[in-house]
Amino acid sequence: MAPRILSQEIAREFYLLRIDDEKVKYFEALWGIPEKVTYNAYLLVGDDVVLFDCWKDVYADDLVEAVKEVVDPQDITHIIVHHIEPDHSGSLPKVLEVNRFRAEVVAHVMAKPMIEAFYRISPKFRIVKDGEELVLAGERIRILHTPWLHWPETMMSYLSSRRILVSCDAFGGYSIPRAVFDDEEDVVQGYLPSVRKYVATIIGFYRQHIIRNIEKIQSLGLSINMIAPAHGLIWKKNPQLIIDYYRDLANGVPDDNKILVVSGSMYGLMEVAARAAVEEVEKLGGRVVFYRFNDSEQPPFSEIIGDAIDSRAIILAAPTYEAGIYPPLDQLVDLISRKIPPKPMLIIGSYGWAGVAAKKISEKLEGSGFKVIEVIEFRGSADEKDVQRIRESTRKLLESS
Ligand code: FEO
Repeated sequence: MAPRILSQEIAREFYLLRIDDEKVKYFEALWGIPEKVTYNAYLLVGDDVVLFDCWKDVYADDLVEAVKEVVDPQDITHIIVHHIEPDHSGSLPKVLEVNRFRAEVVAHVMAKPMIEAFYRISPKFRIVKDGEELVLAGERIRILHTPWLHWPETMMSYLSSRRILVSCDAFGGYSIPRAVFDDEEDVVQGYLPSVRKYVATIIGFYRQHIIRNIEKIQSLGLSINMIAPAHGLIWKKNPQLIIDYYRDLANGVPDDNKILVVSGSMYGLMEVAARAAVEEVEKLGGRVVFYRFNDSEQPPFSEIIGDAIDSRAIILAAPTYEAGIYPPLDQLVDLISRKIPPKPMLIIGSYGWAGVAAKKISEKLEGSGFKVIEVIEFRGSADEKDVQRIRESTRKLLESS
């Protein structure tokens, strides 16, 4: 099936070039995204022709065709490379080849060695600094260096007369929205969970930089009519919504009473114990999101992390395995401690002959600033007393969050 490609004028002589990547299953060859993703490039046409970012390499020929819908690729005078991750720069070599390397590649100083090393090309570079203003295609383009959104070289461009912020990874999300803009409420509400999952998996580790860069953008007092990210919806009706949503996610602001419960259970004993916590949360009016690793389910980490970032508290239940933590939960604890703002936690562990998992989970999380409200560990299956402790500790967790 041919990919769906949009080439659409979204402001005066400013074009969206969007491709819907229906083929990708794992973003960064890591995160399961059955909802898929779009790559958005942009084209500004005037006396100069400026391409803002590219697409993934497998879509290089498609990008050239999309550019041809608007201009001759040989007429591109500048390619602003905001970010080198290959979902946005992979087709740069092809575009430059078709362009006969006439265009200047406009990028941060850290981008140059990466472009040269990734693609073994030596285009004409124009190195730009934070705050620098370029006048291209009759537009004053202000460069904003926004490090760690997503890599250290990442920049945004502000188109002064059009009041458009071309934001690259920031303010983007997974999925293939059926619309281009945020006009319809149901499109926006359907899209935001994919933004949450994207932020948690891709930029969660750099969440302090989300806050810092939003502060930086707002301190500049830019009037923003449109945010044009490199993935997903374009924000025209309400750009402030996506800015606020990103800031809230980075701060770990909870979604009401959402409590994440994850259990790992080789033979079902731990899952019974975890269900006691689930029942208690529900009894107290909490909204449970429950993921189970067992002999018939292995839920994707991308979904769990996406649900962790805006949960009010988290309950993890895992048995001891080879003097450590049951491996899927071990990996999850590492991901949570790296990518998720600290939340109150309840840890439940179990063992056959020596208990290790609960203590190790607790140590890892506390080392990353998480507040562990209680650690419960039992041998074999949870007896009545253990279940009572789980219920009491769940109540304590909810009271403290
Ligand atoms: Fe969409 Fe960091 O690349």
